[in-house]
Amino acid sequence: MQSGDTPYGEFEFIVVSNRLPVDRVNDDDGNGSWRRSPGGLVTALAPVMEKADGAWVGWHGAADEALESFDHSEIRLVPVPLSAEEVEFYYEGFSNATLWPLYHDVIAPPEFHRHWWDSYRKVNERFAAETAAVAAEGATIWVQDYQLQLVPKLLREARPDLKIGFFNHIPFPPLEIYAQLPWRRQVIEGLLGADLIGFQRPSDASNFLRCVRRFLGLAVRQQQVQVKGADGSPDYVSRAEAFPISIDVQRIVDLANRPDIIERSQEIRRELGNPRHILLGVDRLDYTKGIGHRLKAYEELLADGLIQVEDAALIQVASPSRERVEQYRLLREEVEGAVGRINGTYDTIKNTAIRYLHHSYPVEEMVALYLAADVMLVTALRDGMNLVAKEYVAARTGNRGALVLSEFAGAADTLRQAILVNPHDIDGLKSAIRGALDMSASEATRRMRTMRRQVLQNDVERWSKAFLSELQKGAREDLLV
Ligand code: G6P
Repeated sequence: MQSGDTPYGEFEFIVVSNRLPVDRVNDDDGNGSWRRSPGGLVTALAPVMEKADGAWVGWHGAADEALESFDHSEIRLVPVPLSAEEVEFYYEGFSNATLWPLYHDVIAPPEFHRHWWDSYRKVNERFAAETAAVAAEGATIWVQDYQLQLVPKLLREARPDLKIGFFNHIPFPPLEIYAQLPWRRQVIEGLLGADLIGFQRPSDASNFLRCVRRFLGLAVRQQQVQVKGADGSPDYVSRAEAFPISIDVQRIVDLANRPDIIERSQEIRRELGNPRHILLGVDRLDYTKGIGHRLKAYEELLADGLIQVEDAALIQVASPSRERVEQYRLLREEVEGAVGRINGTYDTIKNTAIRYLHHSYPVEEMVALYLAADVMLVTALRDGMNLVAKEYVAARTGNRGALVLSEFAGAADTLRQAILVNPHDIDGLKSAIRGALDMSASEATRRMRTMRRQVLQNDVERWSKAFLSELQKGAREDLLV
C-alpha cells in the first residue's frame, strides 16, 4: 500500500505483463539505460498510458535484482523482482514447459511439477500485490497473458474497486486437453476474477467457457458467467470474448516506403544471386511454428525436381528463444540437422537451398526481407495469432506476393485470401507452396489487396480500444439468471 492517508495508489490505468516493455542496454563505459522493446502492445498502449496516468507492472528481465520504480517515455515502470529459482520454476518451468505446450495442443508433452506450480502461484501473488499497491481507487487494470492467469482473482480479492481485464495472447485449448492440468480449477478461477477475458479467436473463448461449465459448474449464458464473490463480497459477472490482436500497421507501412529499406530489399535479392523466387519464413525458434514440416515439404519439392536450387532461395529466420528449456534445445538440434542435410544434398558451389539465420533482426531488416520475399511461409501447428503474417501483408505496399498460412494460426480467421494450409498434410503443403510460386500476378494482387485492406483497417490501436471500451461496459442484464 502507498504511504499517506489513503490505501490507494496513484495510477488510473495499469498494464501488467510478465516482462516490462523495456530492455536494458549498456554503453561502452558499462552504463546501463533502458530502451523501449519492439512490439505492438506498448505502441498501442503508450498513448492511453500517457493520457490516463498509466503504469506498467512487470519483470525487468534480470534475476535476483530488486529495482525501484522509474519513469520511461512518460510511463511509470514498476519492476517485479524474480529470483533465479523463480525464473527456473515459474517462467521456464510452469509458464513455458507446462502451460505453453498444454495450450498449444500438446505438440510437445507438458510437464506437471508441484514445485513449479507453487512458484507460479507465489509469483502471481507478488504481481497482484505490486499492482494493488500502485492502483488508484477504481483504476482499470489490464493483465496480459498466460504467465499471469491467477492475477485477476488475487487482485479482485485485494481490491474489489478495480475494473479488471485479462487478455490471453496464446490459444486456449479444448476441454479434453485442458483437463490434464492438475490445477485446472484454480487457473479458471484465477481468470474469472476479471470482468472481461479476451481471447484471440472465438474458438478460444468457447473452449474456455466449456471448461468453466465443466470444472466449476457455473452457469454460462452466451459469453457471460455469474461468479460468486469471495467471503461476503457481491457476486459479479465475468465475460469471455474474442479480440483478435494486430500490429502497428502504420510503422510497417512507413518502413516499407523508406527508400533505404527498399534499396536494402533489392540488395538482398542481388546477394542471393537474383533468384526467380524468394521464399521466407520468420519465427521464434519454437516447436509450435511447424518449421520442421515446412523444411520437409521444401526438401521434397527439391527432391521431386519441382523446385530447383538455381531458381529459388528459402530464407528461414529463426530467432533464438527460451534456450534453457529442454524442448527448445531439442528443436534447435532437429531444425539445424534438417537444414544441414538439405543444404548438403542440394547446394551447389553457387547456390544454397536454405539460408538459415539463427538471429533476431531489427524491424528495418525484417521489413526489407518482407519486401524481398515473393512468398511468405507461415506453417504453425498452433499459434494464438501470428503477427508475422500480418506484418508481411502490411509491408506489401505494391499488392504483390503470396502468403501461405496455416489454418491453425489465429491470423487465418481474418486473412481468408491467403493460401490456407494444414501443415500436417505434407502433400497439401507442397502444392500450396508450388501454387504460391505459380500464382498469376493478377490473382496475387487481388488476394493481397483484400488482405491489406483487412490489416490496414484493423491495427493494434483499434484492438486495444475495442477491448478497453468493452471492459468499461457492464454485463448484459438480460442474460442474468
Ligand atoms: C508469445 C507470448 C508472449 C511472450 C512471447 C515471447 O508471444 O504470448 O507472452 O512474451 O511469446 O516469449 P518469451 O518467453 O521470450 O517472453
